[in-house]
Amino acid sequence: MELINRTIELVKEKLEGTESGHDWFHIERVWKLSLKIQEKEGGDKLVIELAALLHDIADPKFHNGDETIASKIVNKFLTKQKVDSEIIEKVIFIIENMSFKNRNDAPENLPLELKIVQDADRLDAIGAIGIARTFNFGGYKNNLMYHPDIEPKLNQSKEEYKKSNGTTINHFYEKLLLLKDLLNTETAKEIAEHRHQFMLQFLDEFYKEWNVTF
Ligand code: ADP
Ligand code: NI
Repeated sequence: MELINRTIELVKEKLEGTESGHDWFHIERVWKLSLKIQEKEGGDKLVIELAALLHDIADPKFHNGDETIASKIVNKFLTKQKVDSEIIEKVIFIIENMSFKNRNDAPENLPLELKIVQDADRLDAIGAIGIARTFNFGGYKNNLMYHPDIEPKLNQSKEEYKKSNGTTINHFYEKLLLLKDLLNTETAKEIAEHRHQFMLQFLDEFYKEWNVTF
């Protein structure tokens, strides 16, 4: 479909040179995962595809904290493509409300399309790909992989998090291991089960090798 191809073109162009956690291939995985979930869960396919493709088009982190930049780009692009204004509004709502940070103030009754794209984005943060992205991010920031003096734990207080020094292993406890319980759809929960177990197994191996207790 022409609109999807044009959107892909725009996304590839905008994401050129971004760090690899949010590059085109992340978008492609989230797009495909969203479609896979949509097959089972339903929802408006066009809205889901557009939102998945456009969800990371402009990270405020790289735009002086400007939270509105993504909506502006998406609105301008989709209007030019003569997409229905109702569809545009739905897509922008998803992009503005799906991030992990916004999980507490998201409305109770999220649209199914948002739930699906959010699930797909979260699934790409766990499992083997999640592990790889996390170590990649840690390397990019020059963070320690792990520090043995810090016992990582789930549901950390701010103080505990500060003490963790943001090691890459700590990020599993701070975020990755919590994601499976934040998923919206049954289909995503099923996919997450295996990915979650894989991360637990990875951590287990990691500590055994680190401590030479294998
Ligand atoms: P998202 O765009 O999915 O909301 P982020 O921009 O926070 O998430 O993160 C992008 C990728 O980098 C994810 O795979 C995430 O787990 C990883 N990441 C984010 N923060 C850290 C951190 N402090 N240490 C290691 N990895 C991180
Ligand atoms: Ni994303």
